[in-house]
Amino acid sequence: MILDSRRRAMVVMAACFAAPVIAHAQFNYDVPYVPTPPVVVEEMLRLAAVGPDDFVIDLGSGDGRILIAAAKKFGARGVGVDLDPDRISESVANAGAAGVADRVAFLRQDLFKFDIGQATVVTMYLLPSVNLRLRPRLLRELKPGTRLVSHDFDMGDWQPDQKSTVRKNVFLWIVPARVDGRWRTTLALPAGERSYEIEIKQKFQEIDGVARYGKKIADLWNAKLQGDRVSFVMVDDSGPLESNLYCEGRVSGDVIEGVVRRGIGSEQTQINWRATRIAATS
Ligand SMILES: C[S@@+](CC[C@H](N)C(=O)[O-])C[C@H]1O[C@@H](n2cnc3c(N)ncnc32)[C@H](O)[C@@H]1O
Repeated sequence: MILDSRRRAMVVMAACFAAPVIAHAQFNYDVPYVPTPPVVVEEMLRLAAVGPDDFVIDLGSGDGRILIAAAKKFGARGVGVDLDPDRISESVANAGAAGVADRVAFLRQDLFKFDIGQATVVTMYLLPSVNLRLRPRLLRELKPGTRLVSHDFDMGDWQPDQKSTVRKNVFLWIVPARVDGRWRTTLALPAGERSYEIEIKQKFQEIDGVARYGKKIADLWNAKLQGDRVSFVMVDDSGPLESNLYCEGRVSGDVIEGVVRRGIGSEQTQINWRATRIAATS
């Protein structure tokens, strides 16, 4: 019988589970130790576009290989957490041998209790059920724009922003800002000022919505959310000729600030744009 790569990985993990439980029976491991192959480590870090300004947190860091590669190959800093004391000692030794001991730390902690808020990149090789248990915290506690990369296992109905397969599946998510709710904005259009109430519905990074002005309604076309960057297109029908309004901005709490470009090419004009949230979706 041919196993797909996801099932094969779960079988390998299940087979490995007995050993760490026996070795450290006092600890309750949520995932057995199975190291990520080096080529998959490379692909995880490439997909997450890790760089020298990043702070990487590896949840269940094993022998430290992901974080050590992030520090050695990309100049990143970070922390790995693992419950297994042998893995922590091994990681500290490996970081020293790789010459990155000043950039990384390894802590014996439960990944479910570790404060993840300072991460700009989170790496994981866990299990589907563990990813799903972690998901609410990842969405709530990570800053919008944080990249999350997982070896082999997905996040249920939170679709990845990118998926890559190099021997194994690697998934990338960019933590989305909360944009759902009703927003108010006033735009200075060629035919005069117009106030809009924009209603946005959100499921993870997927968004959709409408804008109301007076008794009329305008669809939001091509609505996109990536981290804290939101963009969509509305049609401006305020003058004799209709034209597109290309709206894009950065979400910070209950404010969006950015620009609106009207039209294209030689006829394009640009105005600053600010919207404030007047109600969150309940
Ligand atoms: C599949 S291994 C991944 C190791 C490493 N990240 C890699 O990709 O090579 C999972 C690791 O998670 C650790 N682990 C399991 N449950 C944990 C928990 N609740 N908190 C911290 N680490 C945990 C295990 O000890 C193991 O080293």
